[in-house]
Amino acid sequence: MISLDINGKAYQVDVGPDVPLLWVIREHLKLTGTKFGCGIGACGSCTVHLDGKAVRSCQTPVSSAAGRKITTIEGLGETHPVVKAWIKEQVPQCGYCQSGQIMEAAALLASDPNPPESKIKSTMNGNICRCGTYPRILKAIKTAAKEGKRP
Ligand code: FES
Ligand code: FES
Repeated sequence: MISLDINGKAYQVDVGPDVPLLWVIREHLKLTGTKFGCGIGACGSCTVHLDGKAVRSCQTPVSSAAGRKITTIEGLGETHPVVKAWIKEQVPQCGYCQSGQIMEAAALLASDPNPPESKIKSTMNGNICRCGTYPRILKAIKTAAKEGKRP
């Protein structure tokens, strides 16, 4: 059994240590907001937070996440500034990549609340959107940073 802390809730899962965290999140725990895209760490759709840092859950063995704080898109909630900015700027098109985009952006703003555009672009560079929503993603991250500065 492997013990996991996901979105503040404790889970016990009976899986092998090398099973990707993405599989456990989606198939065992049915938290399906996190998406499977490429399975090889190249698209970012499976991005979750591990101790507040963005990681590719398809490339993270479940055993390496045991005892650490895991956050998925379900754990951010609708009041999170990045989620609110995403809604305000109406970012998604098909939506498939968007939870990964939001998780990447949320981790960025948690570590740097007011990043320059160059840093936003370099950080988000590994999160692919086949619908090409990149301009709205950039706008929403700037909006979230601006809203976050308000008292
Ligand atoms: S599914 Fe994990 S990076 Fe593409
Ligand atoms: S919104 Fe369709 S892949 Fe990004």
